[in-house]
Amino acid sequence: MENNKVTISVIKADVGGLCGHTLAPDELLEACEAVLEEAVDEIILDYYVTRCGDDIDLIMSHKLGCDNEKVHGLAWKAFEEATKIAKELKLYGAGQDLLSDSFSGNVRGMGPGCAEMEFVERKSEPIVVFCCDKTDPTAFNYPLFKMFADPFNTAGLVFDPSMISGFRFEVHDVVGHKKVFLDTPEEMYMLLALIGDYEKYAIKRVYRRRDNEIAAVVSTEKLNYIAGEYVGKDDPVAIVRAQSGFPAVGEVLEPFANPHFVPGWMRGSHWGPIMPVGEEDATPTRFDGPARVIALGFQVCDGMLIGPNDLFADRGFDKAREKALEMADIIRRMGPFQPHRLPATMMEYTTVPKVLEALEDRFIPLEGLELIEEGGITRKDRGDVE
Ligand code: 13P
Ligand code: 13P
Ligand code: MG
Ligand code: MG
Repeated sequence: MENNKVTISVIKADVGGLCGHTLAPDELLEACEAVLEEAVDEIILDYYVTRCGDDIDLIMSHKLGCDNEKVHGLAWKAFEEATKIAKELKLYGAGQDLLSDSFSGNVRGMGPGCAEMEFVERKSEPIVVFCCDKTDPTAFNYPLFKMFADPFNTAGLVFDPSMISGFRFEVHDVVGHKKVFLDTPEEMYMLLALIGDYEKYAIKRVYRRRDNEIAAVVSTEKLNYIAGEYVGKDDPVAIVRAQSGFPAVGEVLEPFANPHFVPGWMRGSHWGPIMPVGEEDATPTRFDGPARVIALGFQVCDGMLIGPNDLFADRGFDKAREKALEMADIIRRMGPFQPHRLPATMMEYTTVPKVLEALEDRFIPLEGLELIEEGGITRKDRGDVE
């Protein structure tokens, strides 16, 4: 039977930067394109290769469904070819995201990040692909909430009868390795109670409740704590379907008009604003940032990717960029102090455990405080002792 569904797979990796962690150069993109071009009509229908900072994003359409070995193997091969060049050029962190020497059937957990969705193409199928650098997948918690659950952002929640029954959020507990589904609008407050906590919860998918159609997906696989440590905090990608019963393209983009703070930036260890930019400006250099997000609009047409429209290149986002830079100035003043630096559990690079180790023998007990009990009330305050 002819498969009437199309799959969009966005698979990304950082295989080397020019220079430092700032940019994946053209040579690497060309190497990936050459591999994907060969696979057109064999494995994939269409593709578009782009970059955000030092991350290469392979945007592919095909008929093989999510988690397909051939599609993932193709992405792996493209990144391997790019890695060869990155090593030849001694680019920084060459091959950083190809954590394993050989492909084992699926890129999930192997280094590259991945967001995929399969659907029956609508009469007209607009999608927006977001690609980020210098942040992690929780960067999408806030904007996805605004897109699919905030009527002050998305007018369609109020005015489009096909959206009035709301959306279902699949939220992953990345510490406890479990997931929960929450329905908005009824469970909006419980949803916020979870997703406002970037240390523990990430939105993985959003569905339209009326018919359970997939609406959005984020690359969260690598965002997990194992043995108390973050393994592979990762610059994320996301796919969002737009229009006709989903938020309009402008509603999908609107959350980025007021930049929010995300974890990432220098050494993956600082809070900073996320700046929406066109493809040309996805070149994070100031303190290795601030974090960038690009938004590429496509019309999926019989499985082909028509576009992209470089959506954040629009002048309408100039003020958001200015605001993000002001936010960057303000928070940079804090240097190594919180709230610029991330809490210890979220830092990607930190010497603090080594500092503590080195100082272990030099720590001495504080005098007199042995009287303080839990809650900060001393036995003396209570009159238990003289
Ligand atoms: P290194 O200079 O030691 O690589 O660390 C800084 C950095 O950029 C982290 O990737
Ligand atoms: P990437 O995660 O983009 O490689 O950046 C690492 C880093 O340390 C930037 O300062
Ligand atoms: Mg890098
Ligand atoms: Mg990166």
